[in-house]
Amino acid sequence: MTASETPDPVAQATDSAAEGTGPAPAVDAAAHPDALLQVRDVTKVYGSGHTAVTALAEATLAVEKGEFVALLGPSGSGKTTLISIIGGLLAPTSGSVTIGDTDVASLSRKQLTRFRAERVGFVFQSANLVPFLTARENLLYVAGLVGMTKSDSRARADQLLDELGLTDRARNLPEQLSGGERQRVAIGRALMNDPDLVLVDEPTAALDTALGRQVVQLLRREIKDRGKTGIMVTHDLRMVEYTDRVFEILDGHLTHVESPSALGH
Ligand SMILES: Nc1ncnc2c1ncn2[C@@H]1O[C@H](COP(=O)(O)OP(=O)(O)O)[C@@H](O)[C@H]1O
Ligand SMILES: [Mg+2]
Repeated sequence: MTASETPDPVAQATDSAAEGTGPAPAVDAAAHPDALLQVRDVTKVYGSGHTAVTALAEATLAVEKGEFVALLGPSGSGKTTLISIIGGLLAPTSGSVTIGDTDVASLSRKQLTRFRAERVGFVFQSANLVPFLTARENLLYVAGLVGMTKSDSRARADQLLDELGLTDRARNLPEQLSGGERQRVAIGRALMNDPDLVLVDEPTAALDTALGRQVVQLLRREIKDRGKTGIMVTHDLRMVEYTDRVFEILDGHLTHVESPSALGH
């Protein structure tokens, strides 16, 4: 039985995380011995009957630790669906997602919340900052969720704000920041919990090209300098040059393009 067929993940609770994970299929293990992320045959169907929409069809991919990859595709192709499933925000209809040695589907709801808080960092299209907290407080808020000490979290927040060029914006509310600054705060916030995996959904959609490039360059630098693994969803071909590898998605079907230069960049 695969993890996705587990009838009641909540009832399985603690032990299944260790027992249910089984070894990776030999072919994947051989090709990607150090993969931090393994997505296997993930299908997502929204709705049922004649209104059913297959948003993802048997998507399979592996991402190594330290890689920054792009997921490129037009609007409606299934990009947000795929990274939502990878980050444990959405359950697949079938297939499995493994991050490190954790099979995401084997986690109970409570374990999943904790797993996300501790190991995944999200950056969304519209930054989604807490409007009544300053830039710095938006970072510190995450530290509270994962139980960092006050002094550790302040040091970490100030370091990230500095690296992202936001030190003199730290006390501004989101509405007092530009779109590019808000996205930089969102990047800082995604890194506060020291995640293994950073998932980024169209970070440049609301920015002009120059600002978009700046944000993606900063994102790449943070991911590389900190040894994180990053997946960036984009429909903008110009942004893929900052990534190591590209996966293209069209109508829920994933194909792999070896390098950004193969796309003419
Ligand atoms: N909650 C939902 N219910 C029904 N259909 C959905 C839902 N979310 C997305 N879809 C459909 O699934 C497909 C992929 O959507 P999405 O993953 O958001 O694409 P992208 O992020 O590439 O724009 C689209 O056809 C979309 O309309
Ligand atoms: Mg989307």
